[in-house]
Amino acid sequence: MMQVKTLAVDLGDRGYNIVVGCGVLEQIPVYLKPLKLSRRCLLVTNSTVDALYGDRVRRVLHEGGYDVATCCVEDSETAKSLDNASRLYDAALEHGLDRLSAVIALGGGVVGDLAGFVAATYMRGVPFIQLPTTLLAQVDSSVGGKVAVNHPLVKNIIGAFYQPRIVISDISTLKTLPLQELRAGLAEVIKYGVIWDRNFFTYLSKNVSSILSYDQEILQNIIVRSCEIKAEIVEADEKEEGLRMVLNYGHSFGHAVETLGNYEEFRHGEAVAIGMVAAARIAQHLGKISPSEVDMIRDLINSAGLPTVIPSDYSREKIINVLFYDKKNRGRKVTLVLPRKVGQVEIYRVKSISELTCAWEF
Ligand SMILES: NC(=O)c1ccc[n+]([C@@H]2O[C@H](COP(=O)([O-])OP(=O)(O)OC[C@H]3O[C@@H](n4cnc5c(N)ncnc54)[C@H](O)[C@@H]3O)[C@@H](O)[C@H]2O)c1
Repeated sequence: MMQVKTLAVDLGDRGYNIVVGCGVLEQIPVYLKPLKLSRRCLLVTNSTVDALYGDRVRRVLHEGGYDVATCCVEDSETAKSLDNASRLYDAALEHGLDRLSAVIALGGGVVGDLAGFVAATYMRGVPFIQLPTTLLAQVDSSVGGKVAVNHPLVKNIIGAFYQPRIVISDISTLKTLPLQELRAGLAEVIKYGVIWDRNFFTYLSKNVSSILSYDQEILQNIIVRSCEIKAEIVEADEKEEGLRMVLNYGHSFGHAVETLGNYEEFRHGEAVAIGMVAAARIAQHLGKISPSEVDMIRDLINSAGLPTVIPSDYSREKIINVLFYDKKNRGRKVTLVLPRKVGQVEIYRVKSISELTCAWEF
C-alpha cells in the first residue's frame, strides 16, 4: 500500500500543504477541515474530467457536509477566458458563496488557472483548492500560485499570484490520462532535473519506461520531488523577481513554437521539450556546456517520446520575432535560461541574433 506523502510550501501566512497519494480524493473533507471553510463551495471542472471524477468528488464533499455547485467548462485552452470567469462569478453569486467559501479546481492546468483566477478575484479573494488530475498540473501548474486567463491576443496575460490553500494530488487519476498528456507533463519534470537536481535527472533517465507505463510508486516519487524543487524556488522568489525565472528553462523557444503552431500543433510540455534542447544548443555554442551534457538532455527528452527539434517548416524569423516580444524580457533584451550542466542553469541576456540562430545548429 502506497503511503500518502505531504510536503509544505513555506510562504508564511500564504503557506500550504501538497498532498500526494493514491486515493486521496476520498479523503478531501479530512484535508479541508483545518481550513475552516464555509459549507458552500464551487467545483470547477471540464466536461472530460467531470465525466471521470466529478461524481466521486461531489459525493465525497457532500458526505463531508459541503454544499457543492459545479461549473463545467469546455475541454480546451479556450476555456481560460474572461467570459468563463464571468460565468463562474455568476455561479458563485447564485450559489451564495461567501468570503470563506472555497473555489475548488478539479482537472488539469486549464481548469486550475481559470478557477484560481476566479478565486483570486471573487470578493477580492476566497479560499482556493487544487485537485490536479494531469501530471503537468500535479508537478507544475497547481504549485506556485500563478493563476490566469487568456486575452484573445496573448496567453496568460490577465492574472495574479494567488496561492492555493491546499493541493491534493491523487495519483490514481493519472491512470486515465492519455499517454501524450503524461509525456507532456514529463517534460516539466525533466526540466526540474536539468535546472536543479542532477541526481533526480539520473533517476528519471533510469525510470523513464516505468513512468511511461504509469508505475504509481515512481510517479509519486517524481511528483513529490518536482513539487519540492518548485516549492524551494517559489519560497525564495514568490513573484518571479529573480531566481524563479529558472523555471522558464525551455519556455522561451517553447512559447515561440507554441505560438507558431497556433497552440494546436504542440502541447505546452511538448513545446517546452523542444525549447529545452534549443536552449541547450545555444549554451553549447556559447561554450557554457559540454556537448556530452547536451546529449544527455536531448536523449532523456527523446526517450520520453517528446520532440527535440523545431519543425523545419517553422520560419526562423518568426520564431525570433516571438522571442523578442516575450513578456519575460527585460528592456527588450531576449533573456534565456541556459544550462551549464545537468543540474545547473544561468540566466543569460542574449547579445545578438546570431546567438539565437545557434538553436538550429547541430
Ligand atoms: N499556473 C502555472 O504555473 C502554469 C504552469 C504550466 C502550465 N500552465 C497552464 O496549464 C495549462 C495546461 O495544463 P494541462 O497540460 O494540464 O492541460 P489541460 O488542463 O488541458 O489537460 C490536458 C487534457 O487532459 C484531460 N484530463 C485532465 N485530467 C485527466 C485525467 N485524469 N484523465 C483523463 N483526461 C484528463 C483534460 O480534459 C485535457 O483534455 C495551460 O493553460 C498552461 O498555460 C500553468
